[in-house]
Amino acid sequence: MITSDTKATLSFSDGSAPLEMPIYKGSIGPDVIDIRKLYAATGMFTYDPGFMSTAACNSAITYIDGDKGELLYRGYPIEQLAAKGDFLESCYLLLNGELPNLTQKKEFDYLVSRHTMVHEQMQFFFRGFRRDAHPMSVLVGTVGALASFYHDSLDINDPHHREVSAIRLIAKMPTLVAMAYKYSVGQPFVYPKNELSFSANFMRMMFSTPCEDYPVNDVLVRALDRILILHADHEQNASTSTVRLAGSSGANPFACIAAGIACLWGPAHGGANEAALSMLEKIGSVDHIPEFIRQVKDKNSGVKLMGFGHRVYKNYDPRAKLMRETCYEVLAELGLANDPLFKLAMALEKIALEDEYFVTRKLYPNVDFYSGIVQRALGIPTALFTGIFAMARTVGWVAQWKEMISDPEQKIGRPRQLFIGEPVRTVKPIESR
Ligand code: ACO
Repeated sequence: MITSDTKATLSFSDGSAPLEMPIYKGSIGPDVIDIRKLYAATGMFTYDPGFMSTAACNSAITYIDGDKGELLYRGYPIEQLAAKGDFLESCYLLLNGELPNLTQKKEFDYLVSRHTMVHEQMQFFFRGFRRDAHPMSVLVGTVGALASFYHDSLDINDPHHREVSAIRLIAKMPTLVAMAYKYSVGQPFVYPKNELSFSANFMRMMFSTPCEDYPVNDVLVRALDRILILHADHEQNASTSTVRLAGSSGANPFACIAAGIACLWGPAHGGANEAALSMLEKIGSVDHIPEFIRQVKDKNSGVKLMGFGHRVYKNYDPRAKLMRETCYEVLAELGLANDPLFKLAMALEKIALEDEYFVTRKLYPNVDFYSGIVQRALGIPTALFTGIFAMARTVGWVAQWKEMISDPEQKIGRPRQLFIGEPVRTVKPIESR
């Protein structure tokens, strides 16, 4: 963060003295005006619901250029990371700031694989849920519950404890997500197998049974790995900001990640891939697209084109391009190139990209438009899509949480408000109200 010579001056039409505020420059992206002294100097707050113009922190992890459609993890374009490395390589990068060399990568893979088991007692938490519970509610509960097992890594002021918690969370999430699935279908839980890669191990925990092992298919494993890379971090989105806000009070990392999972569950955020697939199933055929588009444009209908639009990207989401490629690869591998849902998605995308409503609002497909189709082809049930997203995003949440804890400027997050309710009044006795 560099102070620039330029200053911002806030002037008032009522004759109050103007206020000069410093401007900071980042390495790339918009500058920020430091308004921290505004309240002390003027008695006024800023008003910015939805954080449309507010940077809540400084960060060196992930950068998005929404106009260009660019996503960088620690400076590296997502396209290169997805093409040249695996998910754990991106995890190492997000956590440590640099790509690993061969020895570091081997050590990191070993470390993560040795933390994949969850405490044997965790299965009793699962057994308390209804079989038809939504996996996200199971994950909010079980990830929060991890804090009760790992007292030896809860001191957030100890860097070693933070490190251990980070690895535990990244390593145990696939185990918990797969357990949530197995529980929902009434099959026995499958223990992790540490000789497998992160993604192959997850697929095996999902799809093998004690009666039949899961033959690892490299194309499908690579597709899952790509989904994980593309969803690993996305700067200060709603769930990451939730994790930071929860962590700002000093809460332990398991509790913070559980809060992030709760936020991710919403259909405007991580729930969008599930919603996009349901939407495609509901549209049903290419013939119904014009009627559906008509409803989307009608503000009173409440219908949105799920998997389209993004707060930051006002261009094609770079992750959507990669997911589209992966979609082709997976469907070809499984002999599903004529999958009607994929064809429908392509037709819908084409029409939406040419339609004036979407063009003028800069609404492009986001990653979730295609990730649902890929996951469905991999055999992952729709209700688990957001759980897979949570499994991928855990590393981003943890990296951002760690960055926040070691930031000397970190304070408890405490937004202000414009109060529009009743001013002070007196409680009357109940009989005279
Ligand atoms: N379908 C139809 N219209 C849309 C859509 C959409 N998917 N998204 C935005 N619009 C319209 C809005 O109605 C608004 O129109 P108006 O100017 O006529 O009022 C205009 O585009 C601007 O939209 P905002 O809601 O202001 O955009 P915002 O940045 O607040 O919302 C969001 C972004 C929440 C992602 C929105 O585009 C959306 O709901 N999309 C569908 C859900 C989705 O796919 N979410 C996934 C996000 S990516 C992720 O979490 C991995």
